Amino acid sequence: MGELRDRRILLGVSASIAAFKAVSLASELVKQEAIVDVIMTPNAARFVTPLSFEAIVHRPVILDLFAAADPTAHVSLGADADAYIVAPATADCIAGLALGLADDAVRTVALATRAPLLIAPAMETRMYEHPATRAHLATLRARGALILEPGTGRLASGRIGQGRMAEPSEILAALIRLLGRTRDLAGRCIVVTAGGTQEPIDPVRHISNRSSGKMGYAIAEAARDRGARVILISAPTAIAPPDGVELRRVTTALDMKTAVEEAVIGADALIMAAAVADYRVAAPAEQKIKRTGEEFVLRLVPNPDIIAGIRQPSLIKVGFAAETHDLVANARKKLEAKGLDFIVANDVSAPDSGFGSDTNRVTIIDRQGLEALPLLSKREVADRILDRIASLLRSRPADRPG
Ligand code: PMT
Repeated sequence: MGELRDRRILLGVSASIAAFKAVSLASELVKQEAIVDVIMTPNAARFVTPLSFEAIVHRPVILDLFAAADPTAHVSLGADADAYIVAPATADCIAGLALGLADDAVRTVALATRAPLLIAPAMETRMYEHPATRAHLATLRARGALILEPGTGRLASGRIGQGRMAEPSEILAALIRLLGRTRDLAGRCIVVTAGGTQEPIDPVRHISNRSSGKMGYAIAEAARDRGARVILISAPTAIAPPDGVELRRVTTALDMKTAVEEAVIGADALIMAAAVADYRVAAPAEQKIKRTGEEFVLRLVPNPDIIAGIRQPSLIKVGFAAETHDLVANARKKLEAKGLDFIVANDVSAPDSGFGSDTNRVTIIDRQGLEALPLLSKREVADRILDRIASLLRSRPADRPG
């Protein structure tokens, strides 16, 4: 049986020479028994005729919404879709998708659907590297779209560089991975920590760090969407509490330790994305400390290592490593010292990664090896982490109702 049997896939094709690869992609999708609707921009039809797609998918291609038999085709197509792939996506198409333009059928359908969006850019290297294109891709990533990075090789101009559309087999694999996630954590309980703990100095001051909570909240939302019961233990953040998640607010590392110890009883996995203060003030002042003009020394004492202290044999333990240098070596040490199943190492010195950003570039390390992921939205990083947890859990039966 095809892996995409009866899944409704939209394939948007914009005007690039790579449109011919979209014909192969349509063919792969049909082989996997998907129901495929192709949407083309008028200029895409200069590269490949709609007939080429119609001969494969056996459904009419949408080229001009005004000429379609159903003038609301964009709404019905969008509502029923399981996923929308835009391949190839030109620089112009990407800009319009980011800005929410609805000036052709490909972009109109993108606005009308809430299905997950997979975008396979194809263009000359300079266009791909242009700050405008980078900014539009960053916007789309932050909105949850999955960007399938173009490969490097010979381009239409004859130059060698990055810009070749991802191969149809890669796009198909990404789609199957994405759709396979639906409710695969039902019946499981996942505990997630987020944000930066605050350690009081006096009633008005504290020691903290730059964690915004975005990474942990993205994990909590992704786990919820995959059917898990989620307990989110959050240090102070500016993020709105997510629906459908049990939120437990904490302030200090000691508060977080107590909350984690309580939450993991009976849980399947603990994911510590929180940036926990390694030290706290030995004796916080009860009243606001006054300025004296003299040198002022704070005595700090170590906080307990929360995740290292959790010893529950059946619990999957996942930590993060926030590193500024020797990423892999430092993360490996933490993997062992804290007894983790795997660790997610992020280079927090990169501007588009780590603290506060909407994207993250991580390397996932376990005892078998490592997987360096490309720059992804925090939501996609969350799903990659949960893919691993789901795969570890598949070998263990769920022992409680969802
Ligand atoms: O919140 P964002 O702005 O989205 O940023 C995300 C992030 C950069 C905070 C996140 O991706 C991240 O890296 N979190 C872990 C930060 C950190 O504390 O790293 P660490 O290398 O110091 O700690 C390693 C692991 O041990 C972490 O899982 C941490 O939660 C845990 N730990 C650390 C100290 C401690 N006392 N107890 C712990 O359990």
